[in-house]
Amino acid sequence: LDNGLALSPPMGWLAWQRFRCNTDCENDPKHCISERLFMEMADLMVSEGYAKAGYNLISLDDCWLDKKRGPDGRLRPDPLRFPSGIRALSNYIHSRGLRFGIYEDYGNYTCAGYPGILNHMELDAQTFADWQVDYVKLDGCYSYPSQMDKGYPEFGYFLNRTERPMIYSCSWPFYQLINKMEPDYKTISNICHLWRNFEDIQDSWQSVTSIIDYYGDNQDTLIPLAGPGHWNDPDMLIIGNFGLSYEQSRAQMCMWAIMASPLLMSVDLRTIRPEFKAILQNSEIIAVNQDPLGVQGRRIYKKQGVEIWTKPVLPMNGKKFSWAVVVLNRRVDGTPSQVTAPLRDLGLDSEEGYHVRELNDHKDIGFLSKDQAIRVDVNPSGVVMLKCTIQRVPPFNP
Ligand code: GLA
Repeated sequence: LDNGLALSPPMGWLAWQRFRCNTDCENDPKHCISERLFMEMADLMVSEGYAKAGYNLISLDDCWLDKKRGPDGRLRPDPLRFPSGIRALSNYIHSRGLRFGIYEDYGNYTCAGYPGILNHMELDAQTFADWQVDYVKLDGCYSYPSQMDKGYPEFGYFLNRTERPMIYSCSWPFYQLINKMEPDYKTISNICHLWRNFEDIQDSWQSVTSIIDYYGDNQDTLIPLAGPGHWNDPDMLIIGNFGLSYEQSRAQMCMWAIMASPLLMSVDLRTIRPEFKAILQNSEIIAVNQDPLGVQGRRIYKKQGVEIWTKPVLPMNGKKFSWAVVVLNRRVDGTPSQVTAPLRDLGLDSEEGYHVRELNDHKDIGFLSKDQAIRVDVNPSGVVMLKCTIQRVPPFNP
């Protein structure tokens, strides 16, 4: 939707990957999907510095709904787990200075079997507006992918008609792709602010690398779609959970940043270890992700387990960009890989040269001319992320 939202990739917190469909508040009150969980996360987003780092959304995912609509036909939350109601939760999250997101499904049911929006689109869009929702994730279980080209725009139309600006996150192309349809990406990127292309992320390095491969292998289709207001969504950040090592967590952060992906954490902010929190809050890496040019990075090299990805960023000098560079080492055979890359081979060919800085460790590497090479050691299943800031022509001063 062209409503001025999501000019940079959305940043926030989503319940699904970490908390799933845990509805057992009796036995597991701390981790079940309940208003308490979202209120606690909202508090921590602010008190632990995530909000300041740019993460400004708290979003429900599946399993917040009651099994049935209310007598008035409206959606309603599970009364035991959300006793104060959604409007109250939305108010609470807004009172913390954050945005409030909700999850629904285009079909008859959500993926976990709760009521979907099919045949209720106008009413549900209005309900979301009444609840002051800022972000809607619309899934696609229990529906026909062939009808999505009509259905997703229709719901977008009703969202727009409420006159409340909401970010619209779509699963539309993913369900079409798994049904062997070719998504109409031109329309999708006009209607949705972000959209899922590939499978759900799981809590493993294997899952992360399969997503990276998908984005690299399909980059010629996907890169042109991304830009301010419309983004490919490779799914949530799993940093701080159970499946990724420290190096792998840095790798996910740097890859999501260079792919201009939404940064949607799904982690327990009450127990996350400080080193993972620091990765999620790395301001220099976030700045690459949020760069105003909004260009999705490209895999320009892939050989023997080493990949190099580059993304043009500000500042510019004339028509030449500065660049973010990620060197990703997929090898796990024990010792860091030495990678040497002439700047020119990376497409960095400005006459004035570049100031090069490593962003994970916040270390200046120094000035390099276009004829020189970057030399880095990259840990097994790890990354080095560089920002190469273009140097300006010195002003002419006779
Ligand atoms: C689908 C989505 C996930 C999550 C679940 C909820 O699998 O892709 O992100 O929302 O549904 O059931």
